[in-house]
Amino acid sequence: MKPKIFVTRKLRDEVVSKLRDQCEVFMWEEEDIPVPREVLLKEIEDVDGLYCLLTETIDKELLNKGKNLKVVSNMAVGFNNIDVNYATELGVAVTNTPGVLTETTADFTFSLLMTTARRIVEAEAFLKEGTWRTWSPMLLTGQDIYGSTLGIIGLGRIGEALARRAVGFNMKVIYANPKRRSDLDEELGLEHVELEILLKSADFVSLLTPYTPETENLISYDEINLMKENAILINTSRGGIVNEEALFDALKQKKIWGAGLDVFQQEPVSLDHPLLSLPNVVATPHIASASINTRLKMAHLAAENLIEVLNNNNPKHLVNPEYTNNR
Ligand code: GLV
Ligand code: GLV
Repeated sequence: MKPKIFVTRKLRDEVVSKLRDQCEVFMWEEEDIPVPREVLLKEIEDVDGLYCLLTETIDKELLNKGKNLKVVSNMAVGFNNIDVNYATELGVAVTNTPGVLTETTADFTFSLLMTTARRIVEAEAFLKEGTWRTWSPMLLTGQDIYGSTLGIIGLGRIGEALARRAVGFNMKVIYANPKRRSDLDEELGLEHVELEILLKSADFVSLLTPYTPETENLISYDEINLMKENAILINTSRGGIVNEEALFDALKQKKIWGAGLDVFQQEPVSLDHPLLSLPNVVATPHIASASINTRLKMAHLAAENLIEVLNNNNPKHLVNPEYTNNR
């Protein structure tokens, strides 16, 4: 008998057929509406595997209902939506999709940095609204990228890929990370610094650290106060890493120059969110990994991870290698 799985969003046919080869598949058939919590709580009851997105909260209540559950496969690199410790306690494997999205996410992060620095969104609106009268010396002037200092908070795979791009733009790159990456320091001329030094010296601060209890509100009033007046904050990680009230105050009072935000504490962010009212904020709807190729690769990898666990094999990307398969 094939194992049963529930998929929390309608996926491309090619991914679904890969899953159907090995599993009996139940799927929420909407592409743009997340599965309602009550449906998920019901569906989890008799499946062996769950294929989910970062829009689902996989907490104790849900995990407790999955009496047969062996694996939660998240189609994302981040897994802050899952209570991994509890899953481990229950003997449930948790998998994610790192690697395949690294370059795409770094591309987007660098574009968001450039877009914010050079005011491209504002400039386009200016033109299309018919406000452009003449070429003028200081019209829509922004910040230089070439020759500036980029501070990367969290030098993992994506941070490294971003650093490589930045070096190509002749930026000086400094980073704050639990571990020093001497190999990269040597190869790319990076510099490992304390967070405080990074915040004081960077013209661009890029957040690329995982969202954990330790990084929640990592950037709040005190940290923003250390930043330069011309500094731009770029967040392509998770909204909860930044205190949004503190960021709003700083941008409003021009204590820092701008922010490029792909993620928010609450998603979708509500249209009356104060940050969206500011001209020096460029906001996008959590799309850093959204290239066609990469999203398909993530969808396939999440399917493969899930199938491997259900076949009692080692999946490519296990978040909790300490779990014991006792189910
Ligand atoms: C997207 O935010 C991801 O974690 O993959
Ligand atoms: C700008 O277009 C210039 O020619 O300086």
